[in-house]
Amino acid sequence: MKMTHIVGARPQFIKYFPVSEAIKKFNRHNPEKCIQDVLVHTGQHYDYNMSKIFFDKFGIKEPGYHLGVGSGTHGEQTGKIIQQAEKVLLKERPDLIVVYGDTNSTLGGALAAAKPHIPIAHVEAGLRSFNKAMPEEINRILVDHMSTFLLCPSKTAVKNLTDEGFRNLFNDGKFFPLNYFTEGKDVKDINKDYGNSFVMNVGDVMYDVLLYAIDIAEKESVILEQLQLVSGNYYLLTLHRAENIDHVERLEEIIGFVNDLSKDKTVIFPIHPRTKKIYRDAKRRFTENVNKIEPMDYFDLLMLLKNSDLVMTDSGGLQKEAYWLEIPCITMRNETEWVETIKSSWNVLYKDYNGSHNPTDVNGTDYGDGKAAERIVSIRDKLWTEN
Ligand code: UD1
Repeated sequence: MKMTHIVGARPQFIKYFPVSEAIKKFNRHNPEKCIQDVLVHTGQHYDYNMSKIFFDKFGIKEPGYHLGVGSGTHGEQTGKIIQQAEKVLLKERPDLIVVYGDTNSTLGGALAAAKPHIPIAHVEAGLRSFNKAMPEEINRILVDHMSTFLLCPSKTAVKNLTDEGFRNLFNDGKFFPLNYFTEGKDVKDINKDYGNSFVMNVGDVMYDVLLYAIDIAEKESVILEQLQLVSGNYYLLTLHRAENIDHVERLEEIIGFVNDLSKDKTVIFPIHPRTKKIYRDAKRRFTENVNKIEPMDYFDLLMLLKNSDLVMTDSGGLQKEAYWLEIPCITMRNETEWVETIKSSWNVLYKDYNGSHNPTDVNGTDYGDGKAAERIVSIRDKLWTEN
């Protein structure tokens, strides 16, 4: 069975990693049913610190195909991805393509697969901000409605899909145990007729990655020493969303907010290349207490987060990592897809922030059990060997 993964932006390299490891594990245990894993990198992110560093640090194999699409307007970028990915898919003819998250690489890859009838599995299906001004929201909705397997990270994601009319809920939309198939449960309700879609609650692959990486980060990262930071004595900031940086007034408002907080403590700001370009033209400047550094690899970023006193971010991944590590987070947006983090109050939306957090416990099961990737791969085994 051949599985093609399409990745292209920083968070997708991270999400692909546990899935690729789960495939290797599956192949070791089931050599007769080997999954062939073909990796396609669209080239949406191309700077060393946005791309190759993740391959190096996680030990991810070299992509079989590199589409080299680079930057451009949404139309240009998505269009190039469709054109180039289609060529690869027609040549490789995989049994399944896997796309991740909500970027233009996710949308372009899914569109290239949908018309030649290659089933699509969407990792991180069902997330919604209910704000169509975000390019990511448009990408999510379209990809979900093209996909055969909607792999949800949480109950909320399943509910969002049922609200949009998806009815085919695997195991009633409940999180299913890893041994679900091997215990003789049938998959009669799944058939391979093209056009069917199945909503599956697998848990969050980002939680898999965090559990894997945190010990390694603790042992190996020297980022605190490098930046001469004392644990608990600095804030962390990341910003990259179009809604925050494409409008100079919004960016300048955030700069003012961060500057105020930076009076108490240093702010460490690994700056996204997109933000760096736009910041060059902003009239309002960050104070000297905001330390702008290059984007970090995953392990260093995790260490920076774990030892920070507070994080301000518009990244989806970082909001959850803060929640799992019990670090207070201000989400620099008016809404979030990760509503569980808000319920516990570890995460507060920027518009609601009143200067303090009163967090309650983290619900350890909100985003699964750290075996989302194995669950994803176990589904593939069942479908392609018994149908
Ligand atoms: C993209 C995703 C977003 C995801 C984010 C993670 C879309 C619509 N958005 O946003 O969902 O959360 O990635 O980072 O797909 N650039 C560089 N070097 C790079 C990458 C980008 O200089 O390695 C610059 C380019 O000028 C580019 C701009 O940053 O035009 C924006 O990059 P783009 O690929 O459009 O998406 P992101 O803003 O990173």
